[in-house]
Amino acid sequence: MNELAHPGEAVFRSPRKHGRVMVLLSGRGSNFKAIHDAMRAGTIDADIALVFSNKADAPGLALARERGLETAFLDPKIYADKLEYDREIMRQAAVRGIDLIVLAGYMKIVTPEFCEAYKHRIVNIHPALLPSFPGLHVQQKAIDWGVRFSGCTTHFVSAEVDMGAIILQACVPVLQDDTEDTLAARILVEEHKIYPETIRLYFEGRIEVRGRRVFILS
Ligand code: GRF
Repeated sequence: MNELAHPGEAVFRSPRKHGRVMVLLSGRGSNFKAIHDAMRAGTIDADIALVFSNKADAPGLALARERGLETAFLDPKIYADKLEYDREIMRQAAVRGIDLIVLAGYMKIVTPEFCEAYKHRIVNIHPALLPSFPGLHVQQKAIDWGVRFSGCTTHFVSAEVDMGAIILQACVPVLQDDTEDTLAARILVEEHKIYPETIRLYFEGRIEVRGRRVFILS
């Protein structure tokens, strides 16, 4: 028995395998790029089977096409509701045998049904040290609050937005003359490190979740 487990506690262990990943994005796609670069370099044992967007003109989608990846855009407006939309995403994932869904600047809230169906199989990155500053415009919120440090967090996605179990975090100082943009740029450098690292650990079978806590296995 694992010495860190408590009796009766649900334990999830990420699979050790060659992973099939689906990326969901809405914008620039710099995290997608960092992750794909790490896959191409052989650092992450996984492929991206589909890059998906809710925005037809997302620069990240164009970048994925340039890189020869399969891409898809679905217009949320033609679906009856959010659940129907997410069901279509789940269908797209199922036909491709997707192991992990990576939210990389995906500006849409994932429905609880999607979270439940893909429990421990959806990850996100957030540009603050959660649970501080969930939501949007969080670099400005960190400056306005006066915190001395901010950073970024990778986490599992659960029905409560930005509140799933934390996987990795990185910290940066908040400087007195920071603007939203300068702080965001400093944080982004760290995002591009911890997001690929998170996915690498995932498919090395080294992420274990017990309750709210994530343990990185050696
Ligand atoms: C990043 O700051 C990420 O933390 C947040 O959305 C932004 C996406 O940037 N979730 P990019 O599209 O990956 O460049």
